[in-house]
Amino acid sequence: MEKSPHPPVLITGGARRIGLALAYSLLDKNIPVIVTFRSEYPALKVLQQRGAICLKADFSDNAGIYQFVDNLQSVAPKLRAIIHNASSWLPESPDTPPEETLAAMLQIHTYTPYLLNILLEPNLRGQGEAGADIIHLTDYVVERGSDKHIAYAASKAAQDNMTRSFAKKLAPEVKVNAIAPALVKFNADDSETYKQQALDKSLMKIEPGEQELIDAVHYLLNSRYVTGRTLGVDGGRPLR
Ligand SMILES: NC(=O)c1ccc[n+]([C@@H]2O[C@H](COP(=O)([O-])OP(=O)(O)OC[C@H]3O[C@@H](n4cnc5c(N)ncnc54)[C@H](OP(=O)(O)O)[C@@H]3O)[C@@H](O)[C@H]2O)c1
Repeated sequence: MEKSPHPPVLITGGARRIGLALAYSLLDKNIPVIVTFRSEYPALKVLQQRGAICLKADFSDNAGIYQFVDNLQSVAPKLRAIIHNASSWLPESPDTPPEETLAAMLQIHTYTPYLLNILLEPNLRGQGEAGADIIHLTDYVVERGSDKHIAYAASKAAQDNMTRSFAKKLAPEVKVNAIAPALVKFNADDSETYKQQALDKSLMKIEPGEQELIDAVHYLLNSRYVTGRTLGVDGGRPLR
């Protein structure tokens, strides 16, 4: 890919599934992309061949977040957007002390976006009104709770709330929004019973796939007016 004059979009945890699909969709439009990855995936080679910058980053503690920000500064003094995609869907389990589950969920869904939004504020600002975006990928369970993923839902709810706070703080230069999906894409190990139950939870009763989130992200990036909002991509699940 030719070197672009436009600043890149940063996608956290973008080497697989939804983050990867978002990265490809931006590259398709010649928008430069920086992807963070924790584990190695074959797609990293494809991303690099297509011009993406791939930076290893582990956000499991705050030192990892600061280290990543240091590494980023030399490659991206300005950012067109941050898409907070990195996530872990950890359930409460008798094998893990509950405080460990809560700490891990708060770390990836609350500390990570909070610190990155603050530390990377200078990279986002200075590009004119509505010149940059922050997009939090949260979850439908933010409004409903989840008895099997209590810490996950709470940590995503904190992230959702930060959407409004950062929108106020960074306007009008930076728009800040959240996308709250219900089921988008099953995991490889989901059972048929689980899949059927999950499909039955929405009005639309489909596994929509990544394109719905790609469309939502591009809508937000193209908007000059929408900020501080949570966009539900949930098949009408709240109405069930
Ligand atoms: N899939 C759905 O149906 C669905 C539904 C509702 C909401 N969402 C939201 O949409 C987003 C994307 O979903 P997805 O299913 O594509 O996610 P995913 O497959 O679980 O991928 C998330 C990525 O985040 C990375 N990550 C997790 N913890 C990390 C850490 N401590 N440091 C650095 N990277 C870390 C993972 O790295 P590793 O590969 O190393 O683990 C992984 O590559 C998430 O925010 C999710 O909550 C998805």
